[in-house]
Amino acid sequence: MCGIVAAAAGNNIVPVLVEGLKKLEYRGYDSAGLAVIGDRKIDRVRSVGRVAELESASAATSSPTGIAHTRWATHGVPSERNAHPHISGSIAVVHNGIIENYESLRSELTAQGYVFTSDTDTETIAHLVESLLKTEPDLFRAVQLACRRLIGAYAIAVIDHQQAGRIIVSREGSPLLLGLSDTGNYAASDASALLQVTRNMVYLENGDIAELTATSVRIERLDGTPVERPVHVSQLSAAAVELGNYRHYMQKEIFEQPEALANTLEIVGGSKSIQPGIFGAEASNLLQDVDHILILACGTSAHSGMTARYWLEAVAGVPCTVEIASEYRYRTSVANPRQLIVAISQSGETADTLAALRHAKSLGQLKTLAICNVPESAIVRESALRFITRAGPEIGVASTKAFTTQLAALFLLTLVMAKVRNRLSADQESAYIDQLRHLPVAVNKVLMLEKDIEIWARRFADKHHALFLGRGRHYPIALEGALKLKEISYIHAEAYPAGELKHGPLALVDASMPVISVAPADDLLEKLKSNLQEVRARGGELYVFADADSEIPESEGVHMLRLPEHYGLLSPILHVIPLQLLSYHAALVKGTDVDKPRNLAKSVTVE
Ligand code: G6P
Repeated sequence: MCGIVAAAAGNNIVPVLVEGLKKLEYRGYDSAGLAVIGDRKIDRVRSVGRVAELESASAATSSPTGIAHTRWATHGVPSERNAHPHISGSIAVVHNGIIENYESLRSELTAQGYVFTSDTDTETIAHLVESLLKTEPDLFRAVQLACRRLIGAYAIAVIDHQQAGRIIVSREGSPLLLGLSDTGNYAASDASALLQVTRNMVYLENGDIAELTATSVRIERLDGTPVERPVHVSQLSAAAVELGNYRHYMQKEIFEQPEALANTLEIVGGSKSIQPGIFGAEASNLLQDVDHILILACGTSAHSGMTARYWLEAVAGVPCTVEIASEYRYRTSVANPRQLIVAISQSGETADTLAALRHAKSLGQLKTLAICNVPESAIVRESALRFITRAGPEIGVASTKAFTTQLAALFLLTLVMAKVRNRLSADQESAYIDQLRHLPVAVNKVLMLEKDIEIWARRFADKHHALFLGRGRHYPIALEGALKLKEISYIHAEAYPAGELKHGPLALVDASMPVISVAPADDLLEKLKSNLQEVRARGGELYVFADADSEIPESEGVHMLRLPEHYGLLSPILHVIPLQLLSYHAALVKGTDVDKPRNLAKSVTVE
């Protein structure tokens, strides 16, 4: 959803900007650009497509001060003229977010004689700052005044060739952090872009504005009050964001799942029981009288919530609803101050999820829990309780390890809720914990099915449609399988609870429609087998992911892969892995851009 990098240093920063953009490319990749302070002018380079294009185009550019951007289009098609930075007079601006009042600002600025050369909301910021510079010549103050007039979400970085060596950055709603070092000072949308130069990071708060030079940093609030923000030493390893021996980040991240799960579950240690405190110091009190759980999330994170609903109701006996965040925030709902609001988000900055969380709080529902992969993110900071999944940075746009670690966290929540509600014996608790602990090994075994899955993927990569079926807690897994396939291979895929087949989708089944079925040996297996017969009877080709002990015979038109272990309640965590691999290999056969699928972005920080 657009990535920003800015650098003020003692030497040429163009390689730092380009390297930083490469790390942020997951945020948007339809065009990229940079602007540096040249010899009494702004030198700007922009290109449509990937950062690699920008790298070649900017090879001859050099300066100690500059800003850069990788774009995911919101206002205006991906094109060079819409690519950032946008220039007005002596200044250049990059922006991540959406300015909601840009139309009124644009009319006002047009009336003042400014000519717009792009369709973006960002160009409004450039002209607004330029117009304010006429009465307030100090760039810091002019940007401060401009920001006070902006409504919406933004992280911006501004340079002025008449005030060389200075970069002004500000944020409201969109992420931005500073990187401090002896050789220069930097800003970026996330820490991965700056690990190349420093580990010392300062997270800006909403409404902060900062000035960076090669040797100084100062921060104020938009009302002019000076503030200090603490320096965090990032623990992120540079290797964690490198591709290593893998072909794609998605492949790397699928194979990192055993480790990601082990890290996430480390909090349980060698203990036979878990305490509410793993969700925060307040958890014991706060969870005590919870009578309902409302999970809010988007995309893959919503699927983890949907899976958890089956656990929470069955094991903890607590009613649970899962709602797509973008729907909840605009719906008139019935508030319940005793309900626990669980916001699930890999990035912790998804605009819809954050807005839904804020909306829930505005209705007086203050029992909030964030399940998130990014500790300093807005969703974590704005929730009363938190659980940080330790998946490590997830770069591939299609979420994989974030999903399985969210599931592990949600199972821990299930156990804690069950304990708080006196529904879990010590034996059950310790048995579940043992199962959780064994997960990394169990996932490893499933990953060994890759070669077989690759063969399957080749068989249906030329198909235009696919159906995914699951039942019970595996229905959300079918949904996740379908989402993965459409996201990265562009094969139209739908998921249904298998019992719904006869109520509509069966009409679509013929020999050209592969039907992928999640079929673990659970209490719904017999019912599922009948559904599969319905598919076979219509000539549908079945691809079944069963357990070692699911009694489904392989026959003509019924292809079968068996997962090595039967995993009971936790089986969704294992059954999603082959579906991830299937979509990955289907995408490879089709030759799509696995890590950067068309039209999508990793963190959607706009509505
Ligand atoms: C985007 C990504 C999805 C992700 C969703 C929610 O759509 O492409 O992979 O599931 O956002 O993201 P979050 O960071 O809130 O989990």
